[in-house]
Amino acid sequence: MNGLREILAFVVLCMCTGIGLANTPELTGDRPVKVFILAGQSNMEGHGQIRSLDHLGDDPKYGHLLKLLKDPDGSWAVRNDVTISYQAEQREEQKGPLTVGWGASANEIGPELMFGTILGERYKEHVLLIKTAWGGKDVFCDFRSPSAGKPVGDEAVLLEKQGSEGGSREIGVYYRKMISEIKECLANIQDVVPGYHGQGYEITGMAWFQGWNDFCQWPARVEERQVGLGIIDAYPRNLANMIRDLRQDLGVPDLPVAIGELGVGGHEMTRRAHNPRDREAVAMAKFRNAQEAVANDLSLRNVTFVPTLDFWDTRLEELRVMAETYDRVKKEQKIQNTPDNVLPTKELSDEYRRLGGHWYCHYNGSAANYSLIGYALARALDAHVSLAPTPPMGWNSWNAFEKDIDEGKIKAIADAMVTSGMRDAGYTYLVLDDAWMASRRDEDGRLVADPEKFPSGMKAIGDYIHGKGLKFGIYEDRGKMTCQQLPGSLGHEQIDMETFAAWGVDYIKMDSCFAESNGRMSSEHYALFRKCIRATGRPIVLSISDFGNAAWAWGGKESAQLWRTSNDIYPWMDSIYACAETSAGDRAIHPAFNGLWQFAGPGHWNDPDMLQVGNLKDMEAGRREVADRAHFSLWCILAAPLMAGNDLRTMSDQTRKVLTAPELIAVNQDRRGIQGYKVLHEGGREVYNKPLADGTTAVLLLNKSREKADITVRWDQIGLAGSQPVRDLWTREDLGEFQDSFTAHDLAEHEHRVIKVGKPGPPLPAPSPMPLDKYTVTRRGETYLSDLYYIWKSGNAPVYDATFGGEPIRIAGRTFDKGLGAKGKCAVMFMVNRRADRFRATVVMDDTSPDDAKGRFRVHSEDFFSNKVLWDSGEMTKGSPAKEIDVALKDVQCLMLVFDGKNALGNWADAHVVRGSADN
Ligand code: GAL
Repeated sequence: MNGLREILAFVVLCMCTGIGLANTPELTGDRPVKVFILAGQSNMEGHGQIRSLDHLGDDPKYGHLLKLLKDPDGSWAVRNDVTISYQAEQREEQKGPLTVGWGASANEIGPELMFGTILGERYKEHVLLIKTAWGGKDVFCDFRSPSAGKPVGDEAVLLEKQGSEGGSREIGVYYRKMISEIKECLANIQDVVPGYHGQGYEITGMAWFQGWNDFCQWPARVEERQVGLGIIDAYPRNLANMIRDLRQDLGVPDLPVAIGELGVGGHEMTRRAHNPRDREAVAMAKFRNAQEAVANDLSLRNVTFVPTLDFWDTRLEELRVMAETYDRVKKEQKIQNTPDNVLPTKELSDEYRRLGGHWYCHYNGSAANYSLIGYALARALDAHVSLAPTPPMGWNSWNAFEKDIDEGKIKAIADAMVTSGMRDAGYTYLVLDDAWMASRRDEDGRLVADPEKFPSGMKAIGDYIHGKGLKFGIYEDRGKMTCQQLPGSLGHEQIDMETFAAWGVDYIKMDSCFAESNGRMSSEHYALFRKCIRATGRPIVLSISDFGNAAWAWGGKESAQLWRTSNDIYPWMDSIYACAETSAGDRAIHPAFNGLWQFAGPGHWNDPDMLQVGNLKDMEAGRREVADRAHFSLWCILAAPLMAGNDLRTMSDQTRKVLTAPELIAVNQDRRGIQGYKVLHEGGREVYNKPLADGTTAVLLLNKSREKADITVRWDQIGLAGSQPVRDLWTREDLGEFQDSFTAHDLAEHEHRVIKVGKPGPPLPAPSPMPLDKYTVTRRGETYLSDLYYIWKSGNAPVYDATFGGEPIRIAGRTFDKGLGAKGKCAVMFMVNRRADRFRATVVMDDTSPDDAKGRFRVHSEDFFSNKVLWDSGEMTKGSPAKEIDVALKDVQCLMLVFDGKNALGNWADAHVVRGSADN
């Protein structure tokens, strides 16, 4: 990471976007106070010695951050725009302006100082930090929240043991304290925030940062630690429950949460963990994995894991070792007998004290370390809410022009985005798709614009776009070539991201043509792009373009803000509805999920591809308009990115009205960020519901079938009852009050209504996401894949526990109860979450296949583009004997089974994974 540039760019961004810089109370105005919760235990309390804070300035990467903490005269800044409330018993002050000294004691800081500083810079609104932290507490008992239930297994054993040693403990007491402190502070906000005049508040995010009490249990004797190890397994569940309960108790269902990794010992600690006898390192590594698992729990949404290993100061670590040796040697009075050159000097010891010199597990007392952690936590929450807090909106060149783009056209489109009102309606990104580049890189290996199409170069185009108040997007491909066979980014990731940043790019669509020969996992490759983008310091949206290869399952949200869920969209309704069904229905995922809604949210969106509004072919004008609206309504209700794909220079007024319909766009851009989901699907009649931030809900009633239909939504399907006001969002008329339901009458094909139902108030409940045990491996021992819902499929959906034809699976006289039946092309993915050691199955061609049928079974790790084949049957014919599969699944997140055979049927008999009884 190139921190310095990152910071500068961040600050410059703040300036360019008019985000208020510190200490400008007049700017805080009437907007609700932004509230952030800082919770955890000793490391959140903070033991960074203020005397060491200047050391931050020596950091080659992050040194510039120090300036943010100081006034021009060099004294520590006191921020009038950020208030902190921290009710620690040992403190005199329990609230005040943010400055140094809000750590565990008045001589110390924790992450709060830099955290609040960064967010103070970021927001115009007043920022309130509510810090609630207690040292020596743990999640399995002290912070245990109601839904975690009673401690069981190792947890119960440990509690009893501790109780019997006189440390009797009350379950959940610190969870309750945390909630009551937050609520109390908010209830008295007028006494906490200076100048508060009733503008209200918004709980915007929470950072959780803790120490080692969940594995290094009290009393911290080595033999006790072993017992503590046992409870790490329960940690992800406990912390997830705590987050869930806290969100509910505070009434913020999707509150973004950043979990700061326990980074003590840094990367060295991770290396040490390879030695199984190094108990401390093994436990810490295990604990970090448990922390990360919370963020990977897809049922939680909006939880980010924030790596902090980079912030462990190794120089300080060396100094500590030397200082301790010095102290010991001195104490033992052996100093005279030891040769000078191997002796740590007093200077080194003093230097260690100057730079913190405090307990090792508290980051050696380094205020610099704590500041960097605060920085990373703030940035994680900020990235979450700021890169794509709502689905990105813009225009992309592909659907209108394909390869045929040039400078003149793009400039004219930029002009049209302004004059047509598209920009002001929210369409911000102007994205150049494939074929903008020259067929070769320059002699330095940099991408260059096609000299004929873009003679002034890409920087100039970017400047032009920015000059119109728009943002600049560009296309690349992660393979060796783009889909149009121009230079791809494989092996040039860093230089390409640098080039884009230098051109002022704000959005990158990263395609996947030819990526199957990359020899890289998709998850790793996109993570690499994100890392390279981060290193440039420019905030850039990353869009995964991969024809819908399950990025929602393999961790796309770790690196990107949106991912394709479908194949390419074409300008006809069958294609549009098919693309929508990848996100809304069972085209890409098991029907039990009711679409992909649970995988979307602020900062990470399902993308059923770009809009074809205005491009529809083979329709007479009247029907075309209805179809355009149906397409747009679906994309709005599905919280899909709205990337227009029509020629804006010649767009009809009718098309313009569809694309800029303000109340439809408001549904798409609703800040609660819930993707709409179906509450009715009967034949071609569909009803979708999208609960909104203001307590109302948007409903789409759509007829996809040829026959006319009446479609009804009942209030009990959308969390309402009684008499409710209804507004039509296309005609922008209030339709009056409706009792119990609303019916749209006589809808012809593609005809629909989009209505808003209910009164403003507390947000309506969203449906519960699918529980993890229904689709991931959660238990030890055997898990049959047919006991899990698949997370992705392409081609025919497999039949569970039977052949594709519905017969029992039989091989050589034996009948199998479990297994999957496949036909033709059938690729299916399961989430094993790195929790399985082996995959086992017996494969055979089904004897109902045509006589000359041939088929092939393959087992992959992750998606098609990762192309990591773990097992391959080779060609099998109808008479081939069954083949046994028994393969190791080390580090496999997603397991993909592929059957390929024209018209053929194949069986994955007994398909299951095994999770060893060993501690994995
Ligand atoms: C496809 C992609 C399209 C477009 C095209 C350019 O792979 O899905 O959206 O970008 O490549 O060649």
